[in-house]
Amino acid sequence: SAAEKGGYDYFMLKEIAEQPKAVADTLLGRIDGSGSLTLDEVRIPTRVLREIDKVVIVACGTAFHAAMIAKYAIEHWTRVPCEVELASEFRYRDPILDAQTLVIAISQSGETMDTLMALRHAREQGSKVLAICNTNGSTIPRESDAVLYTHAGPEVAVASTKAFLTQLVACYLVALYLGQVRGTKWGDEIRAVIRDLSSIAGAVEQVLGTMEPVRELARTLAAKDTVLFLGRHVGYPVALEGALKLKELAYMHAEGFAAGELKHGPIALIEEDLPVVVVVPSPRGRSVLHDKIVSNIQEIRARGARTIVIAEEGDEAVVPYADHLIRIPATPTLLQPLVATVPLQVFACELATARGNEVDQPRNLAKSVTVE
Ligand code: G6P
Repeated sequence: SAAEKGGYDYFMLKEIAEQPKAVADTLLGRIDGSGSLTLDEVRIPTRVLREIDKVVIVACGTAFHAAMIAKYAIEHWTRVPCEVELASEFRYRDPILDAQTLVIAISQSGETMDTLMALRHAREQGSKVLAICNTNGSTIPRESDAVLYTHAGPEVAVASTKAFLTQLVACYLVALYLGQVRGTKWGDEIRAVIRDLSSIAGAVEQVLGTMEPVRELARTLAAKDTVLFLGRHVGYPVALEGALKLKELAYMHAEGFAAGELKHGPIALIEEDLPVVVVVPSPRGRSVLHDKIVSNIQEIRARGARTIVIAEEGDEAVVPYADHLIRIPATPTLLQPLVATVPLQVFACELATARGNEVDQPRNLAKSVTVE
């Protein structure tokens, strides 16, 4: 009913708008007064977490993209090798697992069969399993050794939005917690990022306030067949998520690529007026990557692409090559997906509406896939 949708036309719009609160709720009570993480709820002894020599993350769909981003954070802050795998592929290739492997299963619903089967397999091999889940008491957390709940609240729209952002927050918390427990050379950076996380809900709110031009742009693209997405570093999974949203909702051909791969194939797809969304890393931080992406944008624009550029405020280098410029607030490099994903959600939702599609219930999809 209209009341359930809180005055929005679709649950998806309501859930996009709820993201600042969802993010804040997922952080609530997990950072203490001194700026350290308190994740006692993760009932895996710190002794075990110190002995872990590998992290493996399994998930499906949008949760898999959260997992890809988590890998960058975990390896950077903890120096523990981290693999990420689609849950549906995992157990069928006899993965290498033992008691020193921490397996993280990410699932909004906690009922996805592929993810459940993957975690059962991991536990049979003696690995500890930590679930990151949004649904209290669902099967995946019940069958795991420990759970870190995301506090997004119920997500009704089939296409995941607020659950994704809270999965990212939970992944960052786990990565920072592992760093804190194990002690790494990034101690100062970890404390700084914990501080930045505390203000990230405000940054998400800020992005939401600037989405009207994104909606206008989406409406002008309603008759297109294809949209490409490029990103690099943590912007790569964001590009994949932007493409997934467009497939799910707008039923358009959409593909995400790692920007560095452009010259190894995807550039052949560029033609006159093809919309290409580019997620640009911060010019601060890993600035080499920033410069490389700017030349990618130049290259595709020279070949006729219509460039839709998502870039940090104050990033002037992209301006000459952006047909459409979407600004996001500055964040630490690894946290950028929390703000960069939001315009892509809005973009997909508006394109779906413009094409007359059912936003909350896309054809052929289910909110939770309980068969393998
Ligand atoms: C389905 C949904 C996706 C979701 C995926 C994983 O395919 O349509 O939106 O990302 O399942 O769901 P989970 O509940 O495990 O996060």
